[in-house]
Amino acid sequence: MNIRLEQPQDYREVENLTREAFWNVYRPGCTEHYVLNQYRDNPNFIPELDFVMEDDGRIIGHVMFSKAELLLDNGTRIPSWTFGPISIHPDYKRKGYGLELLNCSLEKAREMGVGFLCMEGNIDFYSKAGFGLASKLCIHYHTEPKEAEVPYFLAQELIPGWLKKHGVTEATYCPPKGYFVAEENPEAFEAYEATFPKKEKAFQEGQLPQFCQSCGMKMAHIEDFGTNADGSTNFDYCKYCYADGKFLQECTMEGMIEHCAHFIEEMNKLMPKPMTKDEYVEMAKGFFPILKRWRK
Ligand SMILES: CC(C)(COP(=O)(O)OP(=O)(O)OC[C@H]1O[C@@H](n2cnc3c(N)ncnc32)[C@H](O)[C@@H]1OP(=O)(O)O)[C@@H](O)C(=O)NCCC(=O)NCCS
Repeated sequence: MNIRLEQPQDYREVENLTREAFWNVYRPGCTEHYVLNQYRDNPNFIPELDFVMEDDGRIIGHVMFSKAELLLDNGTRIPSWTFGPISIHPDYKRKGYGLELLNCSLEKAREMGVGFLCMEGNIDFYSKAGFGLASKLCIHYHTEPKEAEVPYFLAQELIPGWLKKHGVTEATYCPPKGYFVAEENPEAFEAYEATFPKKEKAFQEGQLPQFCQSCGMKMAHIEDFGTNADGSTNFDYCKYCYADGKFLQECTMEGMIEHCAHFIEEMNKLMPKPMTKDEYVEMAKGFFPILKRWRK
């Protein structure tokens, strides 16, 4: 296998590879190819750490790195790094190529002075390349309580002693903006996705929970999803909000929040910390505007 830097003429092939690798793995369909498509123009993108792996001229693997930040309790921000997406074409998975590509790119990153990396991923794979739980290094995840041991949040000092040298005894990881472009602009993502050959979305075991883009309900089972006009599953909305290609209630976002607040007791059964109805309404006012149905 040959590992080299990605070139502009590779972009479409690499995005297609990323789509093939991630399709239906973490959610029905995937968005990682769009993240990559947009990220190359992001100031945090590192072109010197944007690698493809080739088998006889065919691109079968890709990984990119990005600048990120660690936030200290005193408000100081320390430049740091992350990486991903990393993809190996489905035909080549579990043959050792992912680890080979990752180890080779980590070596190049170390040579460039990348001293510390945080990322979200499966420890079964990344531990083989030296990653461990970030919590063991007192690095916290931005959306989780500081005391939580977050099983998918991983880190590694590529240069031993880098954290100490930079005065980091404890910090919170701030992922760079740009990994959430598909959620932030679903219309642009859908227009981009439509430029690829159609692929069937499917719900399968092991995917991350999805949240209804109308009421925010967690959808963890295939029965939870709504239906399109042709009877196929709609992966954006739950069955209580959307059936046969139509919303079941015509309402405003505020009306939906009020409606959902009636179910606070049921929601509390699934929450780590129970909320009052008023607390739920306040929280919902923060996150409903980013749901696809209410986004302006
Ligand atoms: C994850 C990915 C990059 C790994 O590449 P790969 O070439 O398939 O993995 P490797 O063959 O190098 O795996 C090396 C070892 O890591 C572990 N490993 C790899 N993938 C794993 C997985 N999905 N679950 C658990 N362990 C895994 C195994 O121990 C494996 O050794 P084994 O096959 O002898 O058991 C690739 O499978 C992929 O593109 N997946 C879809 C996209 C994705 O999930 N990217 C990572 C997002 S965080």
